[in-house]
Parts: sequence; C-alpha cells; structure tokens
Amino acid sequence: MKRIPESEAISEMADARRFNEFMGNNRFRQQEYRELAQRIMELGIPAGGKVLDVGTGTGFVAMEVAKLVRERDIRVVGLDLSPAMLTLAAENAQRAGLNDTLTWREGNAYAMPFADGEFDCVISNDSLHHWEDPVAIFNEIARVVKPEGRYLIHDSRRLETWWPKLFAWGIGLMIPPDFRVHYWGSIHSSYTPDELHTLVARSQLAGWKIEAGFMELAVVKK
Ligand SMILES: C[S@@+](CC[C@H](N)C(=O)[O-])C[C@H]1O[C@@H](n2cnc3c(N)ncnc32)[C@H](O)[C@@H]1O
Repeated sequence: MKRIPESEAISEMADARRFNEFMGNNRFRQQEYRELAQRIMELGIPAGGKVLDVGTGTGFVAMEVAKLVRERDIRVVGLDLSPAMLTLAAENAQRAGLNDTLTWREGNAYAMPFADGEFDCVISNDSLHHWEDPVAIFNEIARVVKPEGRYLIHDSRRLETWWPKLFAWGIGLMIPPDFRVHYWGSIHSSYTPDELHTLVARSQLAGWKIEAGFMELAVVKK
C-alpha cells in the first residue's frame, strides 16, 4: 500500500469540533488515550518536571497524562498549529478541572517556541502522519528534550498484510461515514516500521527504539 499524505493541520472549527466530539465520546479511543498515558508514565518523569505534547489537538492525551502527574508538580504543555483545536483543548481541560497542570501553546512543531532542553519528556500521538518532513520535527524534539530526557512518538501504522487490514475494515464499519474517511486517511498516510526506522535514523534523536504493534507504531526513548 503506497503512502498517501494527509494535510498538516485540522484548522476549521467545524472539523475540530467534529474531531473533539467523536474522540471525546468514543469509549475505545478514550481507553486508548488512558493506556497511552500509562505507557508514558513508565518512561519515568521526575517530580517538578515538564512534559510536551506535540500536535496535542484537543488535548486528550495531555489531559490523561495531567491526571496522572498533577500530584507531583509536573506541568504538561500542549503544542498545536491549530487555534481551533487548542480552543477546544482549553475548554476540555477547564471542564475536567485540569487547568492548573496544563498549558496550551499555538505553534509549529518545525520551529517550536521552546528553549533547548526545556522538557523532561516529549510525547506525541496521531500527529506524525500529518508531518510533511518528520525528520525536521524529530530534530526539534531532540533540541527541546533534555539530554537525559525521554520521548514517545506514537501513531497509527500503515497496514501491509491482510489480517490487520481486515481488522481495520471491521473497525471502520463501526465509525460514522463522515469520520470513516479520516480513519482511513490516517492509516494510508502513516508509516511502516521500516520507513519510520529510516526517517529516525536520519534525525538527531538519540537512544531510540521503534516499537511496532499490530496497528500502531512508536519511536521511544526509555
Ligand atoms: C489527528 S490530530 C491528533 C490530536 C491528539 N494528539 C490526539 O491524539 O487526539 C493531529 C494534530 O496534529 C496537529 N499538527 C499537525 N502538524 C503539526 C505541526 N507541524 N505542528 C503542530 N501541530 C501539528 C494538527 O493540527 C492536529 O491537531
């Protein structure tokens, strides 16, 4: 299956609202966000530290992480290109009572508005397949994370064999038709493990490992 790139930002408010409504009310996606936050906790974030979520969207992963770290004086910053997505992220966080732990920043991941080594941990979910030049963003992540810091860049995986494709087709049938287009768009624009390996190897990220699951992929430094 050839890779079909998807556009970078979810910029229209109507699209952002639809994303927020669908993901916010889908219990499987919410469960995935919680599981990802647990995986992020296993990286080990020091008390008083800072976490950056790149392409935070409407903030679901950042909020799940915030719930787990707020007792340890850790701050979570969500970065996104789209003001519409960030407006909804701020509303979600306000409703969840998480504003003391979270900060939202509008900005482009190609030129992050942060200092070198500002973060103890950098995370990203479902954003990589939107990036036209992933190596440039990996280099920015390498710049803003502390040398001893951790990262987890997680995304869907482009499907190459019939069994995960069949599984995805079944999942697709349970998704409303207007959102199904985005679901397949994400899969088609995602990377294979080999492609991701090649891209990360060309970047300045250090100490990484590729973790490939049935339908997902991650670049991780533990
Ligand atoms: C599919 S959404 C995922 C949102 C969220 N991480 C989640 O898991 O629900 C992808 C997000 O990445 C953002 N994005 C794409 N390219 C970006 C870039 N270059 N800089 C910052 N954000 C970007 C989009 O605006 C969008 O909000």
